[in-house]
Amino acid sequence: MPACVIVGGFFGDEGKGKIVAYLALKDEAHTVVRGGVGPNAGHTVIKEGKTYKLRMLPSALVSKAKLMVGAGVLVDPDVLLDEVVRYDVRSRVLVDYGASIIEEKHLAADKIGHLKEKIGTTGAGTGPANSDRVLRVAKIARDEPKLRGLVGDVAERVNSVVDAGKNLIVEGTQGTFLSLYYGTYPYVTSKDVTASAICSDVGLGPKKVDDVIMVCKSYVTRVGAGELEGELSAEEVQKRGWQEFGTVTGRLRRAAPFSKKLAKRAVMLNSATGIAMTKFDVLFPETANMTDYGKLPGKAKKFVEEIEGEVGIPVVLIGTGAEVNSTIDRRT
Ligand code: IMP
Ligand code: MG
Repeated sequence: MPACVIVGGFFGDEGKGKIVAYLALKDEAHTVVRGGVGPNAGHTVIKEGKTYKLRMLPSALVSKAKLMVGAGVLVDPDVLLDEVVRYDVRSRVLVDYGASIIEEKHLAADKIGHLKEKIGTTGAGTGPANSDRVLRVAKIARDEPKLRGLVGDVAERVNSVVDAGKNLIVEGTQGTFLSLYYGTYPYVTSKDVTASAICSDVGLGPKKVDDVIMVCKSYVTRVGAGELEGELSAEEVQKRGWQEFGTVTGRLRRAAPFSKKLAKRAVMLNSATGIAMTKFDVLFPETANMTDYGKLPGKAKKFVEEIEGEVGIPVVLIGTGAEVNSTIDRRT
């Protein structure tokens, strides 16, 4: 803090939503701004037994923070408005007037042919909408009547927050290896999603960022096509209790053990300063809901410390349960 970027270290679904919510509450963030691709993301936050499912708004909606969406993010107005109404946050929301709009034709194009059959996209319309933006024919938020009253200059607002010394969280989506440039091309999403790109999405220059927290799950999962080193059979995944289904698509996620090799490369690509490790209680059930690192069993500490040794940065947060506060915070 004051400006902290959250990115995914693997293939998305690392649990960024919970980490963003935790940090927004704990550090009393003034503003949380979404970068990343668009509503192809699915973030889940659980606070005091209530579950929030988000595809467009920042995961900090459980805090008092202002909730912004950067110009680089694709906006599906129906998905956004549904969240605004469902969680009654209209007065806190601002979308950058330059954000591209996902239209019906983009949704249709994302559900057929190459994108569906070969790449296995989420079908949220994001690839076709980004394509229209590159061709300079996309509609932008400024011209979308459905968003009237919700649109403004997010870049100016987030820079003012940082300049005033208030806490800003920049929330990335997807994961490093889904990056259009640094991922497992062509089995990737439709733009770069590393920390630099996430900052660009919201109009924040590189010198304004203090921390980059990279979220890694305690094992690796991926949905859709593309390589996954060390992939386990569906039976083995189930046996280990690692079975998960996609938030947006409902598809069964493929899984592999934690990869220090991927984590190390992702640290480099994001200039990450700390790791947030999630779903630790799935790997070590006896750690469920613990909040004190000192009380972890030896083998769990060894797992963390081996990763720190090899990857070269500290594990600053450890998620031990689905609830926001089931988190070990090792920041000093
Ligand atoms: P698209 O981003 O919908 O075009 O999908 C491209 C690839 O990225 C597919 O393999 C998707 O499953 C994957 N993908 C996109 N967004 C997410 C996400 O938020 N979590 C996990 N996988 C994602
Ligand atoms: Mg997800």
